[in-house]
Amino acid sequence: MGVMMVKVYPTPTIGVLSTGDELTEPTTTLLGRGQIRDSNGSMILAAAVQQQCNVVDLGIARDDEEELERILNTALSAGINILLTSGGVSMGDRDFVKPLLAKRGTVFFSKVLMKPGKPLTFAEINTKSVDGIVQSILAFGLPGNPVSCLVSFHLFVVPTIRQLAGWENPHLSRVQARLHQAIKPDPVRPEFHRAIIRWEVNDGSGNPGGHWSQSSSRLLSMKSANALLELPATVGVISAGTAVSAIIISDLSSNAICNSSSSSDSTSAFRGSTLKEVAANNSQNAEVSVAVLTVSDTVASGAGPDRSGPRAVSVINSSSERLGGARVVATTVVPDEVTQIQDVLRRWSDIDKMDLILTLGGTGFTPRDVTPEATKEVIEKETPGLLHVMMQESLKVTPFAMLSRSAAGIRGSSLIINMPGNPNAVAECVEALLPALKHALKQIKGDKREKHPRHVPHAQAAPVDIWEQSYKLASGGDKEHGCSCSH
Ligand code: MTE
Repeated sequence: MGVMMVKVYPTPTIGVLSTGDELTEPTTTLLGRGQIRDSNGSMILAAAVQQQCNVVDLGIARDDEEELERILNTALSAGINILLTSGGVSMGDRDFVKPLLAKRGTVFFSKVLMKPGKPLTFAEINTKSVDGIVQSILAFGLPGNPVSCLVSFHLFVVPTIRQLAGWENPHLSRVQARLHQAIKPDPVRPEFHRAIIRWEVNDGSGNPGGHWSQSSSRLLSMKSANALLELPATVGVISAGTAVSAIIISDLSSNAICNSSSSSDSTSAFRGSTLKEVAANNSQNAEVSVAVLTVSDTVASGAGPDRSGPRAVSVINSSSERLGGARVVATTVVPDEVTQIQDVLRRWSDIDKMDLILTLGGTGFTPRDVTPEATKEVIEKETPGLLHVMMQESLKVTPFAMLSRSAAGIRGSSLIINMPGNPNAVAECVEALLPALKHALKQIKGDKREKHPRHVPHAQAAPVDIWEQSYKLASGGDKEHGCSCSH
């Protein structure tokens, strides 16, 4: 159409920090007295990934002012656009998040007249990035209660993400839904009831089919919920059959029973969703789960932003279809330490059963580069062909490719591949592996049909001329290909 310039927006990067003395890693098998596993961290990371964001897992901070401030400072310099904390925003004398946000920036609101989610706090913090540019970070102090946390995420954080990502209308969609059963709402605070809504034949409204105990600690009330019923503070009962406003928080299409003949403005957006779109949406639910581990002392210490991790997420997500429905479901950062690298690789393959694990960085010649050594001890079967192809294609981009000592192999049902830490390297290496990676992942899952995938003429599988062209573009004067190896 002759339109050569389009407006694009960077994918927002979200840092997620759980706070609380009572929290332990979710993998803890034996809980001590008064301890609980941190479920909010995983929940919010997953919710952010679902919103197509890059995520940085900031882990757990104790209820200790100094520790929290230290982690906050690290987080603020990690190149994030949105900081999400959970817990520590109530009125307890060890709830340090709000005072800290007030100390570092401007708190715009806290204590919202809503149920659940009352303690929610929002602040803006201006911070200087490593290159001296002043950046604004939007910080949400989400409540520690799991349901309050996730409801606040949907109502406040999702529109913010959309705004940053350039959506013209960042607001959540609303439809009118008819109640199946009577509800007694809160007499003082507007309530947001978790519910499943379904379309009913020849009815212009969605229909809240199921809802459960609405206690804000009942995380199960979020399970499968696709809407929040927006119930104004009311004394008395809202009777069954009443039409109420429902805020859509996930894909309604799986609950579409039938297209209705009547339509209204508020529902027509969903009416238009055809079965084909439903299938497309479902295929987005990670059929191939991918985890990305950034290995870098610099990033882990907060001395520099993680440039390769977010890049890997967008490379994988944009190649999702060619990888059989791949989505990045976990990302984390560790320093160049063998045990820390191995802990994550073992957890992601043995417990989380990731299909594909990419490590970024630490494959070079410096004394601190130990990623291949850590990986070799963890993998059960080596996959030298992948390394060969990555090397062969990378050499077309930069002679420094020969300095990468990457390892790759299979552990259980996970394929682990080391990639160099240069942000461009991950794109180059994934591109190099794409023609066979989907088949490789299927083979690991034991799909015998994938043993001898039908021969595809090379030119068709990987159009060499296009590759060469794109490599020329990628390598042309790109300073990131120097050996500064910055992350
Ligand atoms: N491979 C590709 N495809 N693209 C690159 O930019 N950088 C090289 C090499 N391999 C690079 C690459 C450089 S400069 C180094 S030092 C080694 O990977 C090791 O990088 P690492 O220590 O960050 O893993």
